Amino acid sequence: MTTDDPVLAAIPAYDAPSGGRLTPAMVDAYRAAGVLVLRSFVSTNACDELRDRALELVDAFDPSTVRSVFSTTDQEQLDDDYFIESGDKIRFFLEHDAFDEHGELRQSKEHCLNKMGHAMHDLDPVFDAFSRTPELAEVANRIGFDDPKILQSMYIFKPPNIGGEVVCHQDSTYIYTEPESCVGFWFALEDATLENGCMQFIPGAHKLPLKKRNYRKPDGKLVTETLDDTPWPEDRKIAAEVEAGTLVVFDGRAPHLSAANRSPKSRHAYTLHVIDAACHYPAENWLQRSEGMPLRGFV
Ligand code: FE2
Repeated sequence: MTTDDPVLAAIPAYDAPSGGRLTPAMVDAYRAAGVLVLRSFVSTNACDELRDRALELVDAFDPSTVRSVFSTTDQEQLDDDYFIESGDKIRFFLEHDAFDEHGELRQSKEHCLNKMGHAMHDLDPVFDAFSRTPELAEVANRIGFDDPKILQSMYIFKPPNIGGEVVCHQDSTYIYTEPESCVGFWFALEDATLENGCMQFIPGAHKLPLKKRNYRKPDGKLVTETLDDTPWPEDRKIAAEVEAGTLVVFDGRAPHLSAANRSPKSRHAYTLHVIDAACHYPAENWLQRSEGMPLRGFV
């Protein structure tokens, strides 16, 4: 399918406005496309500092603790526990192809990680400072949040050679509120290109229904229920090739994907997912925080 509608033919992209003060045109473009690219939102220096801090945390991580989880016969449930309990912790998730046939890491530890999550923004001072700025608060305000809360943070490694493909999905599938309020704030910490598996979006497709919902059953198992099996219009996908320092804001309904990274370059990124405190957060969502760690906003 092709379209003559200019709204659907490109991802709206602007130089980041001073103070995060999105213009009405930027807000309109975000509403129409479901995604907005803001170039040079953070300095490359700030990107480097966050990457350095992430690598310090990686240094302290012992992958053998995760390998033992992966090697158990009851792999799925144990994997789920390690994941499900990570909402208020800092945990590490390996790439699917991290281990070779002898059970050894194929590359350096850093280059075998898929992601780190999901509460660096509340547990680590460097991540906290990066995640909570007046500029981000202003962007959230201008796109319509009344009482934004940062639900989760993820550091995406997308390592060279083995960085896995992420198939087309909507983040509201996993971060569901009633009414839906999830918005992703995605920061490129390194240049992202088609070669190293950049994000890709289908502009305007955030107006399609929520196609899947992930939730925890009473027995603790996570399931993903299909609500609408209509295929995504992936022929309209557009690559968000962006430089380090770019912020990509996208609606929780906005379908997005990324190809595998088979290149020799990593593609580090940092994502915040934000919900509105006024919306109901279901108890069956996978991410549940302990009572001692209430959600906080951008300040
Ligand atoms: Fe996503």
